[in-house]
Amino acid sequence: MPGLTAVRSPPMPKKLIVTGGAGFIGSNFILKQLQDKSFSVVNLDKLTYAGNLHNLESVSEHPRYQFVRGDIADRELVRRTLIEHRPAAIVHFAAESHVDRSIRGPEDFIQTNVNGTFALLEETRAYWSELPQADRQAFRFLHVSTDEVFGSLGPDDPPFSETTQYAPNSPYAASKAASDHIVRAYQHTYGLPTLTTNCSNNYGPFQFPEKLIPLMILNARNGKPLPVYGDGKNVRDWLFVEDHCDAISVVLSRGRTGETYNIGGWNEKQNIEIVNTICDLVDESAAPLQKPRRDLITYVKDRPGHDRRYAMNATKIEHELGWKPKETFETGIQKTVRWYLEHEDWIKDVTSGTYRQWIETHYSV
Ligand code: NAD
Ligand code: TYD
Repeated sequence: MPGLTAVRSPPMPKKLIVTGGAGFIGSNFILKQLQDKSFSVVNLDKLTYAGNLHNLESVSEHPRYQFVRGDIADRELVRRTLIEHRPAAIVHFAAESHVDRSIRGPEDFIQTNVNGTFALLEETRAYWSELPQADRQAFRFLHVSTDEVFGSLGPDDPPFSETTQYAPNSPYAASKAASDHIVRAYQHTYGLPTLTTNCSNNYGPFQFPEKLIPLMILNARNGKPLPVYGDGKNVRDWLFVEDHCDAISVVLSRGRTGETYNIGGWNEKQNIEIVNTICDLVDESAAPLQKPRRDLITYVKDRPGHDRRYAMNATKIEHELGWKPKETFETGIQKTVRWYLEHEDWIKDVTSGTYRQWIETHYSV
């Protein structure tokens, strides 16, 4: 119209539903997504012992963030959430994630990781099948999984690739393997546009201190014993959590549906090397003890069925999607140690009664 300049409003950001967004990797992922303008985020989380809304305090009032408390196995709630928010994609982190807990009590792992993923997929399929054609095609269900589904490697075996046969050994790994298979079947049978990522061990800010790296940092700071399982020579392939989150974003935007992508840091380390490094870094930065922190290392009874070695071949995601980790283990572990030493309040918050109870039960035998 003459005299009038058309003002086009910016496109609405697409909505993501993130399950398990109050946990370690999920909260790092949400914080990163909100820095970018392309998505708004609904965080669906049950808030188990591992979920902590303090991880997301800095964005709790963000206009593109909403929290819904609930269980992924609660189909009614999942249905309502999908209808209300009409997401363009789901990024599925929610899981029971600690191997030692899966050995003591596998039931929660089957319930959330297998039944919960199934319930989420069923409700997603119903929602997705009613979408207009273009939205159906653009929709993505990204399932976040682990390298532990592939079992254990010998010292000279090549790293796991996307075609390595599944051979899960712990109840945790078996429950994640089952969920990977169900996701695969939904893509193959119903055409649901799924993507699966299998990642190696993560470390970084907001990891619950039941896992090796944060547990060792806190015990080292406090002059407590550092419990190393078995001979300490089990190998894991470590990746800084922000690199994992970047890889998920890349797979979400450019991954081919129906594909699986291995994610890893090319950082194979024996547990004892990790613990020694942490001792030295804590010695450099925290209040000194009477003796070097390496003296706190205590070899304890091995984990039953303890996988000896994990290693990831991440060539596919690197070549196909151009992702590469930004952090080396040396830079990532320095950032991580510093973060735990500087976040006293967060530590106080998560090391509550339930946490102390787990440590007492698990390490007293
Ligand atoms: P985490 O244990 O720190 O967090 C899990 C989150 O899921 C918590 O916020 C918890 O409250 C939530 N949750 C649990 N059960 C739920 C349910 N039934 N309904 C809704 N929410 C529920 O786990 P993490 O380390 O952040 O791992 C996230 C995902 O990444 C998991 O699927 C895990 O298998 C996978 N993964 C983890 C690693 C790692 O090193 N931590 C490596 C590879 C893959
Ligand atoms: P963890 O962080 O539990 O991850 P995952 O079992 O999923 O790899 O453990 C990493 C490695 O550290 C694993 O080989 C077990 C070992 N570990 C210890 O030696 N002591 C501990 O107290 C813990 C929690 C783990």
